[in-house]
Amino acid sequence: MTADFELSHLISKRAASRQTSHFSRGPPPKDTPPGFKAAEKFIPLHWGTPNEGFFPIESIDVNVVDHPFQASLGNSLTNASLEALSISGQDSKNQNYTKVSIKKHSSDPDALDLAHGLQYSEVKGTPELLKFTREFITRTHKPNYEEWDTITSNGAGEGLNKVVEAILDPGDVVLVEEFTFTPFLQNIRNVGGVPVPIKLNLSHDSEGLDIEYLTDLLENWEELKPGLSKPKALYTIPTGQNPTGLTQSIGLRRKVYALAEKYDFFIIEDDPYGYLTLPSFQKPSSTIKLDNYLTVEEYLKDHLTPSYLTIDSKGSVIRVETFSKLFAPGLRLGFIVAHERIIEVMTKYSEIVVRSSSGTSQTILTNVIKHAFGGVDGWLNWILKMRATYSHRKDILLNTIYESKAYKSGYIDVIDPHAGMFASVIINFPSGTDIEAKIKLLIFKFLHYGVGVVPGINMAADKEFSKERGAFFRITYAPAPNDQVLTEGGELMMKAIVDFFEKDFEF
Ligand SMILES: Cc1ncc(COP(=O)(O)O)c(C=O)c1O
Repeated sequence: MTADFELSHLISKRAASRQTSHFSRGPPPKDTPPGFKAAEKFIPLHWGTPNEGFFPIESIDVNVVDHPFQASLGNSLTNASLEALSISGQDSKNQNYTKVSIKKHSSDPDALDLAHGLQYSEVKGTPELLKFTREFITRTHKPNYEEWDTITSNGAGEGLNKVVEAILDPGDVVLVEEFTFTPFLQNIRNVGGVPVPIKLNLSHDSEGLDIEYLTDLLENWEELKPGLSKPKALYTIPTGQNPTGLTQSIGLRRKVYALAEKYDFFIIEDDPYGYLTLPSFQKPSSTIKLDNYLTVEEYLKDHLTPSYLTIDSKGSVIRVETFSKLFAPGLRLGFIVAHERIIEVMTKYSEIVVRSSSGTSQTILTNVIKHAFGGVDGWLNWILKMRATYSHRKDILLNTIYESKAYKSGYIDVIDPHAGMFASVIINFPSGTDIEAKIKLLIFKFLHYGVGVVPGINMAADKEFSKERGAFFRITYAPAPNDQVLTEGGELMMKAIVDFFEKDFEF
C-alpha cells in the first residue's frame, strides 16, 4: 500500500471509509503480548471451508481447439471461410484437440488445481491468475510507473461497477463518449453520478473523441455546465469503440491524458476489443490463410494500439479488461489494472459484494492458457488467430456493402474499424431531414427485411445532444455462423436502405 497516491482525493468517500472485517481473522497486532510467537503450523478448526474431499469433481478434462471454428474444417456449412482447409498435421475430420487435464491436486505452482480452484479463494483473484494478468500487461501495455496492480472481476460489466464504487460520490460527473456502452451509464447513476456526453467525430477516417470539443468544455466548464461539479473521470472505449468501431491513435491519447493531468480526473479505459486489431479492408478471398499470421513481436510493435496505461505515470488510468470476447463471455471473468491504492479500495468492495470471481472460471482459464496455449505469448498467438478470423469476417461483410447499390449511390458511408467487432453504416440523409423520425422508420424497414442492426441513437448518452449525429447503425460480424449468412445479412441491409431511399424515406 502506498500512502502517497497523488489522486487519493478522487477516491469516493464511500470507498475511502469502507471497513471490512472477518470473524476468523486473528487479533489486531497491537494486542500482541510480549514474548508471543505463533506456532509455525496450526490445525484448522476455524474456517468453514469444506475439505476438498467433499468436492464431487475429481478432475476436469478440457479439450482445446487450435483455431477458432476448427470443428468446421470438415463441415462447409458451419464456416465457409475455413471450408476445405486443413491445419497442418491434422486431419480435418478427425481433428486433434489439446487436452488439458485439471486434477484435484497438482505440484505445479502455476497450475491452479481443483482443491484450490473450487475452494473459497482470494478476493483479488487466485495468485496464479493474478500472476498471468501482471505478466500479460507487462508484455502488452506496461504502465509507466511501478505501483500498479490487478484485481479480477466478473467480466468488464462488473469491473466497471467496481470503478464507479471506487471513485464516484453522489453528484460526481463522468465524461462519456456521446455514443457509448449504455449499461455503464446506469452504473454511474446507480451511485448518484452524472454522465455528461462528449462529442464524437463520426467519419470513416476519424479517431472518435472530439478533442477540440473536450478541451473547450474543460476550459469553460463553469460557464458551459453551470451547477455541475468538475469531472472526476472520463470513460472511454478507445479501441474499436462500441458502437462506432473507431480507434484513438496514441497521439490523441497523449492529448487526452494531458487534459486528465491538467484538470485532475481519472481516465476509465474500457477495452474489450483492443486486442482484436484489424487491417484496413481488403477484398476477401473465399478462405482464410491459416499459415499467414503475424508474429507476436510484429503484432505488439506495429498493430496493437498502446493502452492509456503506457502513458500513465501516476495512476490516472483505470483499465478494465475482460476475457469475454477473447475466451468466452460465460466465464464472467475479467480484470482491472490500476494504481495499487485503487485496487486496494476495489478489493475491500469485493470483499462485501462478489467476494471473488468464479473459481471454476479462473481454474479453467488459467490452465488452458498455461497448458494448451503455453502462457502469455501462446495466449497472444490465440489472439492473433482470433484477429485473423475477425478480420476475414469484417472484410466479407464490408465487401457486400461496398459492392451494393446503396454504397455506390452514395446513400451511405461506412466506418471500416481498425479493431474489434463493430462497424458503422452512416446514412447520408439529405440536409434538413428529421433524422430521429426517419431512423425510427428505417428500423422497421430492417425488421421487415429480416436483418438485425443497432441504431446508433439507441446508444446515445443523451439523445437530444446527439440527435444530429445519430444517423448511423452499428453492425457486427461476430455472431453469424458463417460467411454465407454474413453476406446475406449485409445484402439485406443494403436492399432495405435502397428501398427506403427509393420510397423517399417512407416505409
Ligand atoms: C464496451 C463494453 N464494455 C463492457 C462490456 C461488458 O463485457 P463483459 O461481458 O466482460 O461484462 C461490453 C460488452 O459487450 C462492452 O462492449
